[in-house]
Amino acid sequence: DPIRILVFSASLRKDSLNTKLAKLAIKVIEKNGGKVDFASMSEFDCPSFNQDLEVNDFHPAGAIAFRQRILESDAFIIASPEYNGSMPGILKNSIDWVSRFRPQPFNERHALLMSASPSMGGGNHGLWSLRTPLVKLGTDVFSAMFSLATAHTAFTAEGTIADETLTKRFESNIVAFMQLVEAAKHYPSMKKA
Ligand code: FNR
Repeated sequence: DPIRILVFSASLRKDSLNTKLAKLAIKVIEKNGGKVDFASMSEFDCPSFNQDLEVNDFHPAGAIAFRQRILESDAFIIASPEYNGSMPGILKNSIDWVSRFRPQPFNERHALLMSASPSMGGGNHGLWSLRTPLVKLGTDVFSAMFSLATAHTAFTAEGTIADETLTKRFESNIVAFMQLVEAAKHYPSMKKA
């Protein structure tokens, strides 16, 4: 069976650079024999987290959808904007909601993080903040992350990355991640006890 990867962008913006990057990741995954489940952040968006809402085992629709899509895939890829040096609040809010299910859905999953930003940092600092809750929740976050700097001028009209070296780095990052996910599927002993 081909590995199946959930891909989504954590931006709700129509012309999102991160959604462009997520769509490019889809092409790379499919080119390398993987299956893709593309989601929109709007599907996973949740009301502001409040423990008082958690009566009668309540979970918002966005969290139910997010959990289901995580569990249906072997791994997930998030392309996330950086807001003020951190991840967007909407993404952290959805992660907090999903973390309330038992069994806890992020545990023993595989994730690859990427970002795009008009800045020189490419939104990489935001990914370090995103690693924290995911690692805390037991997700195996791939060590290499991809951040696209000056992303507003980095794409071609066809949605590819104009720079050849960056294109190669982007593809090899995803392929290396896919190889790890594939290996973990065949050697479940790689998983934590
Ligand atoms: C930003 N942006 C930004 N960029 C960055 O590299 N570092 C940062 O700390 C911030 N901070 C920040 C805060 C807020 C509130 C906004 C709205 C934006 C710029 C951001 O990278 C840019 O708007 C991207 O285009 C957002 O990603 P999408 O929506 O294009 O995917």
